[in-house]
Amino acid sequence: MAPKRKPNKLSGTPDEQPSLDPLLASREMILVAGSGGVGKTTVAASLGLAAVQRQSGRVLVLTVDPARRLATALGLKAFGNAPHPIPNDVLEAAGLEPRGELHVAMLDTKAGWDELIRRHAPDAATREAVLANPLYENITSRFVHSHDYLAMEQLHDLHASGEYDLVIVDTPPSRNALAILDAPSRMAEFFGSRLLRWLTAPYRSRLFTFASKPFYQVADRILGSRFLQDVADFFVLFQKMEAGFVKRANEVEALLVDPRTAFVVVSTLEAAPAHEARFLAESLHERKMIVGAMVANRVLPSRLASTAAIEAANDLAERTGRDGDGMIAAAVAAATGNEHDTVDRVLHQMATRFDDLAMAAEHEVDRQTELAALAATTVVVPWLSGDIHDVRGLGRLACHLRGVADQADSS
Ligand SMILES: Nc1ncnc2c1ncn2[C@@H]1O[C@H](COP(=O)(O)OP(=O)(O)OP(=O)(O)O)[C@@H](O)[C@H]1O
Ligand SMILES: [Mg+2]
Repeated sequence: MAPKRKPNKLSGTPDEQPSLDPLLASREMILVAGSGGVGKTTVAASLGLAAVQRQSGRVLVLTVDPARRLATALGLKAFGNAPHPIPNDVLEAAGLEPRGELHVAMLDTKAGWDELIRRHAPDAATREAVLANPLYENITSRFVHSHDYLAMEQLHDLHASGEYDLVIVDTPPSRNALAILDAPSRMAEFFGSRLLRWLTAPYRSRLFTFASKPFYQVADRILGSRFLQDVADFFVLFQKMEAGFVKRANEVEALLVDPRTAFVVVSTLEAAPAHEARFLAESLHERKMIVGAMVANRVLPSRLASTAAIEAANDLAERTGRDGDGMIAAAVAAATGNEHDTVDRVLHQMATRFDDLAMAAEHEVDRQTELAALAATTVVVPWLSGDIHDVRGLGRLACHLRGVADQADSS
């Protein structure tokens, strides 16, 4: 028999949703952050749709590694990484009523690095030498949090271009959502690090010191004689760009605490992501960055945890299965024409499973309350059924973000 549980005291809280409209109207940059797989890319794209439905002006969504179907729906496959507009008739065909213009782009780390090198190289010779270095692409793509750094860079560029009224930036999949905040300072620190000094110590003098000679001889034999030279060359040139990189990293950091910037922290209400979201929001507060809103995503309906539903499931569990009186199964078996024992087993399992689901929904209600304390606004987005990889699906999610979920149901 299913153990009887007391319904959570918050059960039945109506999931009345506040709206992100005021946030979208009052900021110029929004960073969508959270732990891996919680729905950042989906929420970022939906926020773009929400913004252009609410307000006029140009809105850009910079996505990172969108799912293939989402990329196709947004035309990212066809247009590559350059920002491009989504024609209003595409939005209208999906039942939306845009007032502004939606543009989308995809983060391209290779193009981003090329751009950085072009910008920061002190002269044409350095620029060409870095770009032609055979290890350039390999090394830059291996910089830890390269994605995070470039996402921040692009935010800076896109905002500075003045072409958009609002830039919404999705953030890279990361095991640690805080990495994005530390990326600019890590880049600046790298220039002062012992590692860089070691990497740039003149290759030839190292080669011929007594202690290191055997090492380099072996390395040359195994890796080819140019390999360590190319590594050293790359970092010698890279070091020449220190001033530009450090200045830029400081500017990007300043942008993160700018009052025109706000973070939207996305989390599901499972234990681990919710814990990380909490940590992220607290870290943002500590760094004087603005947590504009929390989005509790893929949330179970709170009515699952309602007192009446839990009691009904408990009653059903008691009256079915081995210890049950068999009456309910008999009635259902008669009505459906199925075999009594099978019906009884199904009903009993459903009732006990429902209890599990209700328990999960109860935990979610608790976590939602905890997360709500960390931001002025918390919106709840249910676990949506059907396809949310196309514009119509994103539009449905946008309705939840805008607090007009009844419109999502009717679309
Ligand atoms: N409210 C929702 N209802 C149903 N499915 C959802 C919802 N939100 C997101 N999803 C689905 O969850 C999956 C993960 O979403 P998404 O790719 O946006 O997460 P992410 O945080 O960007 O992941 P990553 O950290 O890997 O970048 C996708 O398949 C997406 O369609
Ligand atoms: Mg993503």
